[in-house]
Amino acid sequence: MKRIVLILIAILISGVCLVSRAEAEHKYIGIKKCSMCHRSDSKGNQHKQWLSTKHSNAYKTLATDAAVETAKAAGVTGNPQEAAECLRCHVTGQGLDESLFESGFSKEDGVSCEACHGAGSDYMAVSAMRDREKAIEAGLIMPTQAVCIKCHNTDSPNFTGFDFDEYYPKVAHPKP
Ligand code: HEC
Ligand code: HEC
Ligand code: HEC
Ligand code: HEC
Repeated sequence: MKRIVLILIAILISGVCLVSRAEAEHKYIGIKKCSMCHRSDSKGNQHKQWLSTKHSNAYKTLATDAAVETAKAAGVTGNPQEAAECLRCHVTGQGLDESLFESGFSKEDGVSCEACHGAGSDYMAVSAMRDREKAIEAGLIMPTQAVCIKCHNTDSPNFTGFDFDEYYPKVAHPKP
């Protein structure tokens, strides 16, 4: 009896490890790769739309005087562009292991496609992209409010409130 319990526990633990490993293995490919296929006007030009939002500027914002003031007030010392306390919401995938970022990825791109849609190395293939179920299995996230609130919350020193119905239209990029 004791042995069966031990075996069951072992199976459970290895199952959990497998699941978390599979999730962690998707890599961040960077905005340029997504945009290769998502910059045609007839399909909504998600690249251009994103460039027009503050998300594309979120890392650069950390170099402004306003950011230095914000950091000071929040008790964060040093350059905000190097402070984990700020980067965690101003750059995609911050804090994750370096091995999860492909060479095309750049933190300069701030809050990029993959901050909302998930790391793209496994869903970027057209065969997955054309089949939502497959893409989601390969890591694609079709974001809801829950994704926004990971960053739009009171941990943000400049939080101005968040209302999905008001904010989402400002960053939406539907196919026409
Ligand atoms: C090789 C081309 C290609 C690349 C690279 C690519 N996509 Fe796509 N994507 C497509 C195609 C084709 C579709 C199908 C819909 C369409 O025609 O726009 C699609 C659909 C999508 C959808 C909608 C899925 C659905 O079920 O409605 C999202 C979201 C998306 N892509 C995000 C991304 C992101 C984020 C990246 C980068 C990590 C990316 N794509 C990279 C070609 C690509
Ligand atoms: C929990 C996520 C989060 C953290 C942590 C965070 N920010 Fe932000 N930051 C945001 C969001 C979201 C906005 C957009 C403001 C809004 O609409 O609430 C923003 C906006 C800003 C702005 C622009 C403000 C304006 O008036 O236009 C600056 C500057 C800024 N942040 C600096 C910082 C600095 C410096 C730090 C570190 C001390 C930091 N942020 C930490 C999420 C965060
Ligand atoms: C990874 C963190 C992150 C996620 C996820 C995120 N945002 Fe943001 N968002 C930011 C930051 C940081 C800023 C401020 C950038 C700046 O001012 O440079 C911002 C700014 C904005 C702004 C501009 C606000 C203004 O003051 O003009 C809107 C609108 C917005 N986000 C909507 C959304 C929506 C809707 C979602 C979910 C679909 C979302 N965001 C998800 C971090 C995030
Ligand atoms: C702030 C979060 C956020 C960012 C950044 C973002 N998206 Fe999206 N995207 C969304 C949301 C939310 C939807 C709508 C999800 C749904 O319909 O269920 C969406 C939908 C899409 C769709 C489907 C459009 C349609 O009408 O079928 C495509 C394609 C897409 N995104 C591609 C991209 C690409 C490419 C980038 C980067 C250039 C990007 N997204 C950046 C949040 C984001």
